[in-house]
Formats: sequence, C-alpha cells, structure tokens
Amino acid sequence: MSGHGPAQPMTARRSGPLKGRAEIPGDKSISHRALILGAMAVGETQITGLLEGQDVLDTAKAMRAFGAEVIQHGPGAWSVHGVGVGGFAEPAEVIDCGNSGTGVRLVMGAMATSPLTATFTGDGSLRKRPMGRVTDPLALFGTRAYGRKGGRLPMTLVGAADPVPVRYTVPMPSAQVKSAVLLAGLNAPGQTVVIEREATRDHSERMLRGFGAELTVETGAEGQIITLTGQPELRPQTVAVPRDPSSAAFPVCAALIVEGSDILVPGVSRNPTRDGLYVTLLEMGADIAFENEREEGGEPVADLRVRASALTGVEVPPERAPSMIDEYPILSVVAAFAEGSTVMRGVKELRVKESDRIDAMARGLEACGVRLEEDEDTLIVHGMGRVPGGATCATHLDHRIAMSFLVLGMAAEAPVTVDDGSPIATSFPAFTDLMAGLGADLAAG
Ligand code: S3P
Repeated sequence: MSGHGPAQPMTARRSGPLKGRAEIPGDKSISHRALILGAMAVGETQITGLLEGQDVLDTAKAMRAFGAEVIQHGPGAWSVHGVGVGGFAEPAEVIDCGNSGTGVRLVMGAMATSPLTATFTGDGSLRKRPMGRVTDPLALFGTRAYGRKGGRLPMTLVGAADPVPVRYTVPMPSAQVKSAVLLAGLNAPGQTVVIEREATRDHSERMLRGFGAELTVETGAEGQIITLTGQPELRPQTVAVPRDPSSAAFPVCAALIVEGSDILVPGVSRNPTRDGLYVTLLEMGADIAFENEREEGGEPVADLRVRASALTGVEVPPERAPSMIDEYPILSVVAAFAEGSTVMRGVKELRVKESDRIDAMARGLEACGVRLEEDEDTLIVHGMGRVPGGATCATHLDHRIAMSFLVLGMAAEAPVTVDDGSPIATSFPAFTDLMAGLGADLAAG
C-alpha cells in the first residue's frame, strides 16, 4: 500500500535578486510515455533526460511489473527492453502509482486490452481522484474495472481478452484520458478513433508516430479526430526528453516577482499545447525573451531570459486552459503581485488534480492577505502589487501547490511556510537546490 513519510515543512523568505542559470529537469509527461511505449516496443529503447521524479520512477516500476526490463545507466539515462504490443505479463503484485494520475491512467490504458488482471493503488491524494473517466472508455474495448465507490483506487482491471476497436469522444479536456484510450487501442484490431473537442497536450500522438504506429490527426467540426491503427509492431527508439515547461514555470515566475532578478532558463519546450502560461505572462507585461529557438527531442524549444517585471492583471481566455492546466497555481501567485485583477475561468478541472487546486490556492492566498473570488469553475485574484505573506499554507500532498507557495514567500513581505514540501519530489526533486542556487532564501522547517 502506498505510504507517505512524515510531513516536511519548508519556509521561503523574501529573497535578494535571483540570478544565474536554471537547469530544468526532463518533462514529466514525456518521461511517462517514453517508459510505457518503450515497454510496448520490441527491443531496446534508449532514453536520455528522463525525469527521475517519484511519479516517473513509479511508472518505471509498473513497467517492470508487466515484464519489461527497465534499467538506469546514469543520471537521466535509461533503457527499456520492451515486450511488444500484446506482450505484457500479469503482474504478481499490486501496482502502486504513488501520487501520479498520469502514471496510473496511462498504465491502465496500456494493459486494458491484454488478457490479464492487475490491481492499482496510490497515495492518499491519488486514491481520492476519479478513475471512471478512464475506465468508462476502456469498458468499450471490453475491459472490466472493479474499484471503490466513485471509481476510486484501489481498483482491479480485467483486461479485454478479445478487444474491439473504439470510437470515443473525450467528454472533458484531458490528455490522460485521450492517451489511455490510444494506448488501449494499440492492442485492439482495426482503427481506434479518439475525438477531442479541445486540443490537449499531444505528446502521445507525437511519440506513437515516432515508435512507428500509424496515427492520423484531422480537424473536423467535432474537434480533433485522432485515428490509430491497432496492433502495430512498435520499433524501439532513442528518446531525448526535453525539459519540462511546467517545472520551468516556477523559477520563471519567481524571477518575475523577485525584485532585480535576471535568470536564464535553457531549453524549455515551446510545444503550443503546453505554452499557455508563457503567452499569458507576456500579456501581463512579463520581460521574457525567447532566445535560440530550435528543435530538441522532436519538440520546439527556446532559452528563456527572464527579468523581474511590473505586471498587470489579465483575463485568461477559458479556451487556453488545456495548454496551461498545471500552471494555474503559479499563475495565481504571479497574479497576486500584479496590479489589477487576473480572471481565470473555465478551470474546474483543477478541482480533480493532485488536490482541489482552486480551493488550495484560494485558502493559502487568503491566509497570505490576497483578495480573491472563486466559484466551481473560476478563480479571480485581485492583485495589489504586493503580498503581505506571513502564513502557513496547506499543500494537500500536491507538489505544485507546495512550489507555488514557496515562490510566493520569496517575494512576500513576511515569510511563507508550507506544511509539507515532500511532494515536490514527485516532479521536481532538485527544486530546492536549484532555487537556492539562484539566490532564493528557502529552508526546511
Ligand atoms: C498530463 C495531463 C494533464 C496534466 C497532468 C499531465 C499528461 O492531466 O494535468 O499533469 O501527461 O497527459 P489531464 O489529462 O487530467 O488534464
């Protein structure tokens, strides 16, 4: 059963100018996918730049449990000896995906069309999150799922012995659901079609093609129509994982609000399905230069030069939400230091992340003296150009909530404590050292 160690409180104090280079770790979404597709290819996939956060390590362990050989050769350098589409073995143990919604949902998809049974669990955060959004479409392939009330983990999936291909319109903007259906479609005969009304991150589509699957994307009246031809032989690849724009968001936003800062963040992905935060920050008046634009690991990347900036509140268009869904917590921190209101609508998906992120941000910001409004689908932060701080904020086992409030503390008037910084290790284990290296005043306790 997944556990969680003792809480590790951390405190951030008003910091001097942040200066230097921020080397961001590998992209979490791409790291999960590289391990899973590597395990479904025939032969050896080599990965460099893999994120070694706990979420991804849990997916590596899951792939071993299904029979792939997953080996670490050095920092970020891994190989996966895959068993081929349809080649998974039945795991002997419960699959513990820790804190990772992406891990559990993608692995469920990958095994759903193999004739084997697997039981999944996770930590206290993951056991509260809805799995029905994945098991409903998997049922169309013939997969059966037995979980707790409300489709919660622990949950047992009985893979379809005789899967049929599926045509499915994803009811909410979710790359996890889209990807779970595509991964399940790999071992179904014929064509599996996934339709998404709003485009979400496209790493699965890019990588499936890279591994040799036949996949097309058309734009029609219904939205994006993704068609995958089942039962391909996936060919092992060399995957260079680009740096994670969602992790880069923390030093970037810290540099914008800590007076006198000037930092360089090299090689950040500018994939248009991930760059909504950066578009929004520019609209707020952020001084960010995108230098040396190029392609790395199949993704467009740039070096970001970020200087502290006077910011103005903006209205974020709801249709931008899928391209910045993980960045609303840190945007709401930046918004508190801006002049005027920042209006974030169409964000109800934030309520089913590692925590209810609208509630977690609203309570912590209020405790730090920030005025705001919220409803089910909206967060409005009334920026005053300054934040009093001086509070302890609850992180609810959520790495992005912890990092957001620590960034807030670097620019607030009084120190800000988070009740538990340990979840940061799920996505950005080097966060504290990296921020301290730039000059942030961060300490345990
Ligand atoms: C992810 C998709 C998003 C995002 C998560 C990573 C992925 O979740 O919040 O951090 O890698 O597919 P949803 O698909 O639930 O929106």
